[in-house]
Order: sequence, then C-alpha cells, then structure tokens
Amino acid sequence: MTAMMATQAGDPAAFARFDLTRVETPAFVVDAAALRRNLAILSDIKARSGARILLALKAFSMWQTAPLTQAALDGTCASGLWEARLARKHYPGHVETFCPAYKAADLPEIAALSDTIVFNTPMQYARFRDLLTRTGEDFDVGLRINPQHSTGDIPKYDPASPGSRLGFPVSQLREEHLSGISGLHMHSLCEQGFEPLLETWERLEPQIAPYLARLDWLNLGGGHHITRADYDRDGLVRLLTAIADKYDLQVWLEPGEAVALDAGILVGQVLDTFRNGDTDIAITDISATCHMPDVIEAPYRPAMLGEATSGQVHRLGGPSCLAGDVIGDYAFAQAPEPGVRFAFLDQAHYSMVKTTTFNGVPLPSIYLWDSGTDKLERVRAFDWTEFERRLG
Ligand SMILES: Cc1ncc(COP(=O)(O)O)c(C=O)c1O
Repeated sequence: MTAMMATQAGDPAAFARFDLTRVETPAFVVDAAALRRNLAILSDIKARSGARILLALKAFSMWQTAPLTQAALDGTCASGLWEARLARKHYPGHVETFCPAYKAADLPEIAALSDTIVFNTPMQYARFRDLLTRTGEDFDVGLRINPQHSTGDIPKYDPASPGSRLGFPVSQLREEHLSGISGLHMHSLCEQGFEPLLETWERLEPQIAPYLARLDWLNLGGGHHITRADYDRDGLVRLLTAIADKYDLQVWLEPGEAVALDAGILVGQVLDTFRNGDTDIAITDISATCHMPDVIEAPYRPAMLGEATSGQVHRLGGPSCLAGDVIGDYAFAQAPEPGVRFAFLDQAHYSMVKTTTFNGVPLPSIYLWDSGTDKLERVRAFDWTEFERRLG
C-alpha cells in the first residue's frame, strides 16, 4: 500500500503525506477534503434535525473557502461590523450579528448587512430600538441569554461562568424584555460534547418555556464539538428535533471550531538550536504569541505532526523578544538542524484569525490543499507592508 492510499482524504492523518517543503514557512495549510468531511457531518445533522447551522466567523473565516462551507451551511454569524462586512461580501446565506455591546454609529450598517441582530441585554436593545427602526432595514432581533449554568472547566473559556458579561442572566428575564424580540440566543459551551448541552438545556428549559412558544427561533450557539469522533450526534439530533417540535420554532446552531476541526496545519522551520543548562532550545519561525496565541492564552500544547515518541527533546520557541514565546517541548528522532521543517496540527481554527505582527514577525502564508487530489494552491502571502500599514 502506498502512503497516498494509507490514509483517506480528509482524514487528519492525511497531513502525514503532505510534503512540508512544498510551502514557504511559516504557512497555514488547510485541507479542503477535511473541511468537506466536517461539512458532511454537519449537513447530516441539519437534514435529520431540521436545525439550521451558521459558520461562526470568529473561529474560521478563510473566506476563499466560503463556496465550500456555504454549500453545506445556512450562513454565518458575525461578531460585529467588520465580520458582518466580511460575511455579506464573501459568504452567501443568513448573516447573524452578535456583539456584547454595539456602537450607535455602527448599527445602521450592521442593520443593512444582517438578517438577525442579537443583543446582549434588553436594555441595550431598548436604547437602540428607535435608531434601528429609522434605518428602515429588514432584520429580526434576538436576545442573548446567559443560562447561569456552568459546564466548562476553564472560566476564561466558559461564557456561563459566574459573573460572566456574556448574555442577559436568565434569572432576570421577564415578559417585558421580549417586546420586539423574535428569538433567544444562548452560547455557553466551549469544545464540549453533547452531554453539557443537554444538562444546560434541562436547567434552562423551565425558565424560558413560557416564552418559547411565541418566539420564531432559538439559537443554541457554538462550542459543540459535533465533528469530533466521540460526539453523540444522535443525541443532538433527538434534542434539536424535540425542541423544534415542542415549541414550533426554528432551532439554529453556530459552531466555528467544529467546521474546521483537524482541517489545517501550521508549517514552520527550525532557525537555530543551542543549549542553556539542561534545556535544548530550538528557535523557529513560528511564534506562539504571533501565530498561535491560544498556546499562551489557554494555555495548551499543540500536537506536532508525526511527533517522535522518543529522541532528543527540544524546547521550541518563536523569533520574538517575548520570554514566554515558547510553544512547548517536543521530541525529535533526529537532532533538529536549522532548516528542518515541522508542523503543528489542528491550526485552521482560532489561529489564523488571531495572528499578529508583533516584533515585525511575518504573518504565515495561507494555502489550500486537497488531500483527495493533492492539488495545492497558495491563497495568500503577506509582505512587510501588512506590518507597516498597521502602525502609522
Ligand atoms: C456567540 C458565539 N457563537 C459561536 C461561537 C463559536 O464557538 P465554537 O468555535 O467553539 O464552536 C462563539 C465562540 O466564542 C461565540 O462566542
């Protein structure tokens, strides 16, 4: 069996047969077949449950893939004016915009771009209601509620943690808050399976049941790791169908990560190695702080493509001045000489959207690969003017 045949197109393991020297570094390489694999799962959920699914642009907004993602999905959700512009310009389908707080000056354009505008508090909607009416635009309005039931382990990534600013506390929700509101929005998960959703719903339902029957829709947000192999998809379909039937409304989901899960790598190279005390160090052209900030923020240790199980361990870090610009300790079967290529797995979501040019560190190029056909296309390369333009 050849290496080409050993893995299926779209399988995360398919990256093992991507020749890392085909791209300059640093570079994101996104596998179109992996996106198709995730989208097929999401399409199946839609077909079986009747739910509609939006792509959360905050997680993955490589807009050249819009024809692919939107062939399966119903639209996008945007985090404010700029993402709403990106959505309307590049992505067909429904545009829902949610921002924890809007600026009055942005709202007329947001109203023109969006099919749905979701507010974080009824008070903010009340403040802007006349302004929105005056725009004469056609959109509906939702209210984000906070279920006040926390299922996440890390408060930083838990929108339902005590004292969270995200969503109007459901315990405060009253009939009068729903004037002019077509739907409720809830987003309380992060990289979670079905069970925390079910648990949250069971706590929330009695509190919102009196209102649901006369609303048009309910949006259960993102954070659902639907495309992960162990996700209980049948359970999700049962829950979504039951909610829609019981309350006669349209259910929406807006995952980001699940769309691009395991669909991209970040390729880099070793620039120099040396030893400090007991630590072998490799400086690379991938920076944690500039290219994978969640490594420091979460924090987490990204998995390396084909990581050796034994061998010389090196501490990989970026070329910036930040002492903490460290990616992690990785074993190499052979000593990582300058020029050696490597790649970190699962970097399509929440890395590409967060890159910066701190220290003048170059931005990674963006490539689209198809592990089914082996076609490789450079979608974008950046030069130093990206850095210059942002600073004066
Ligand atoms: C309101 C909202 N919707 C959707 C998402 C997408 O979540 P995920 O990418 O974890 O599915 C987020 C993520 O922060 C969010 O804040």
